[in-house]
Amino acid sequence: MEKEIGFGVIGLGMGANRCEMVSRTSGAKLVAVCDINEERAKEIAARYRIDYYTDYHKMLSRDDIQVIYVMTPSGMHGEMTIEAAKRGKNVITTKPIEVTLEKADEMIRECKAQGVKLAVDFQSRYVRDNIRIYQAIQNKNFGKLILGEVRLKWYRSPEYYEGWHGTWKLDGGGSLINQTIHQIDLLRWFMGPVEKVFGQIGIFSHKIETEDLGMGLLNFKNGAFGTILGTTTYFEDTPPLIEIHGDKGGVKTEGNKIKFWKITGEERPLEEENFPHNVVEDMLQAIREDKEPWINGEEGRKSLEVVMGIYESSRKGRIVKLLN
Ligand SMILES: NC(=O)c1ccc[n+]([C@@H]2O[C@H](COP(=O)([O-])OP(=O)(O)OC[C@H]3O[C@@H](n4cnc5c(N)ncnc54)[C@H](O)[C@@H]3O)[C@@H](O)[C@H]2O)c1
Repeated sequence: MEKEIGFGVIGLGMGANRCEMVSRTSGAKLVAVCDINEERAKEIAARYRIDYYTDYHKMLSRDDIQVIYVMTPSGMHGEMTIEAAKRGKNVITTKPIEVTLEKADEMIRECKAQGVKLAVDFQSRYVRDNIRIYQAIQNKNFGKLILGEVRLKWYRSPEYYEGWHGTWKLDGGGSLINQTIHQIDLLRWFMGPVEKVFGQIGIFSHKIETEDLGMGLLNFKNGAFGTILGTTTYFEDTPPLIEIHGDKGGVKTEGNKIKFWKITGEERPLEEENFPHNVVEDMLQAIREDKEPWINGEEGRKSLEVVMGIYESSRKGRIVKLLN
């Protein structure tokens, strides 16, 4: 049996859930956790009978940790990733990779310079139905792509926005960069590079700096059009929707499940590829086989570029060209 790879998790809000994922993934071993909230760190450490820290720098000095999982507010991912890389640790960061493209680039550069791996956790990509859609598009089963749409309508309470959420510095934006980023990542993955965007963001029902409703109109490089809508002004959380169609067929998902699938003509069979089941497996495979994680830093940056394009377009009131 191969030696287990040690993980340390920083940030124990949703990070507590990721501790569970690490501990349940064969080949990974949860070694320590860190949170500036000592009570929280103590509680999670006791659950797994492991060590805890309130200063992540101290956790980085452990030799039995090979992977740091960054689960702190989004505007802290860069600093923590770079510090971890400098200590020779591989890094998984949750979404979004960071809140600016400059910081994301610094993370990617530093991890490369230190010879460590960087993975970004976009868990929807590991979902079977989404992989099926991706493969169908690669196989041209839907023909020439015409339109890709994503829509997320959720509720977030005023209390939710009392902390770091909805701030430019730590959230980097609002309903697009935080809640809708998974669907934006999927859209970009399915449809390919984006050439230009026109965006509009607004604040309707919360006292926040950033948007609680954002929209983008996209032109993909392949000629297809796209739309993005993400809001936390709705009355309840409804399943996020994705719809893609081309000139030979289309697909619709609700909450990552295929609800409609149509192909006119012959459907080319999908290939059974061995995709990892979650980002922890992705990182384990990358370390063992010394290859890039499937969703590496560059891949994780793509959705951020689309969101930043929408924000810039909204600010300037004109179409923005993307460089990807
Ligand atoms: N993949 C997903 O679906 C998903 C879901 C929720 C959140 N997230 C992401 O996870 C990150 C955290 O979000 P959250 O909802 O868990 O936030 P949260 O506020 O609930 O938790 C963040 C935790 O980080 C801790 N923290 C802050 N500064 C720290 C520091 N310097 N050192 C150590 N710990 C520190 C806080 O005390 C807190 O416990 C965000 O980037 C968010 O986008 C991803």
